Amino acid sequence: MHTPAITGTGVFTPENTISNAELVAAFNAYVDLYNADHAADIAAGRLAAKEYSSEEFILKASGIQQRYVIDKSGILDPHVMHPLLEQRADEAPSLMAEMGLDAARKALAEAGKTATDVDLVICAASNMERAYPAVAIEIQELLGVQGFAFDMNVACSSATFGIQAAADMIRSGSIRGALVINPEICSAHLEWRDRDCHFIFGDVATATFIERAKAASGAFFEVKSTRCATVFSNNIRNNNGYLRRSRPAGMADRRDMQFMQNGRKVFKEVLPMVSDHIAAHMAAEGVAADDLKRLWLHQANKTMNDFIGRKVLSRTPKAHEQPNILQDYANTSSAGSIIAFSKYSSDLTEGDTGLICSFGAGYSVGSVVLQRHG
Ligand code: COA
Repeated sequence: MHTPAITGTGVFTPENTISNAELVAAFNAYVDLYNADHAADIAAGRLAAKEYSSEEFILKASGIQQRYVIDKSGILDPHVMHPLLEQRADEAPSLMAEMGLDAARKALAEAGKTATDVDLVICAASNMERAYPAVAIEIQELLGVQGFAFDMNVACSSATFGIQAAADMIRSGSIRGALVINPEICSAHLEWRDRDCHFIFGDVATATFIERAKAASGAFFEVKSTRCATVFSNNIRNNNGYLRRSRPAGMADRRDMQFMQNGRKVFKEVLPMVSDHIAAHMAAEGVAADDLKRLWLHQANKTMNDFIGRKVLSRTPKAHEQPNILQDYANTSSAGSIIAFSKYSSDLTEGDTGLICSFGAGYSVGSVVLQRHG
């Protein structure tokens, strides 16, 4: 048996940001165009007029102040309202592979390792750019890794489920090192014309390098244990669409193929599931609230994270104990908790314990108990 450890992480952050002010200005311009185009139907009561979005609502409901995106021009053009992502030639690297590669190289550099130390690449994300060949195999090829690779999808929990799969293989001895990569092009499956959700997501890619603790070349986080759980729910869903011959009544163009959620229900159902999951995992590991130096949570909503932090610690966590990055990145699906871990973990010292927890569609929840060494 080997002890698995996280020895490096990397974050690819796109160049473009969209502030709430820019987002709302574009959305409201689209609303004006829509209402003018449908003025007769709206006046006759056949169609509801669309309502403006508001910066105040977005900040209060979510805590999000801006998001990073691969393409800004299409999203902010009220005549387009989606990212303009070029169709690439089959020979060119896919967008997910390109983003993931950048994050993977950073993770390996932080660990002081190279492609020869990697036996497995997992591309774990919410939305795959294509069904096959696996994006993970493309990243494996671009990195020059021997061994094997596969894609996995557990929506927002993909990173922690991927870490569990990799850590278990390292523990058993079947691999030496693994990259768990989370490229999230959330902007392409978000309906930017729906004010209930147009502010929620951003694009990013993260990578986590896990290897045998004894192979670590510097400070590392021992993976003490992992715990995953799923319970089926339709409250966060999209439909791939290729099996569908006709659209459900009243469903406009691609809406059912994009992100859909019943946000209120998600809030009510996922909060107790996550709090109970973390409490049970900590109890099983003998980790008391006072022992926990840091909580790196999934980054969907600030109110949600504040609630979970209070439940887990039985008090209001200090900002540094439960760092949020969603104000800058918005919800980046599986990558969120790893961004928080990557940016806010290097100050922990020998013996400190922390916990990564992701949660989301499925429903799914995954947690990883870590201990700092070195
Ligand atoms: N601007 C202004 N008003 C808006 C708006 C916007 N962009 N979007 C919605 N509203 C309105 C609604 O129409 C509603 O009006 P009403 O009260 O007249 O019906 C009101 O604001 C409240 O909307 P609601 O959707 O109930 O807000 P909320 O407080 O539940 O916050 C979410 C919405 C999505 C931010 C919140 O439910 C959430 O974060 N849920 C969990 C999401 C999650 O974790 N998902 C996982 C994804 S991986």
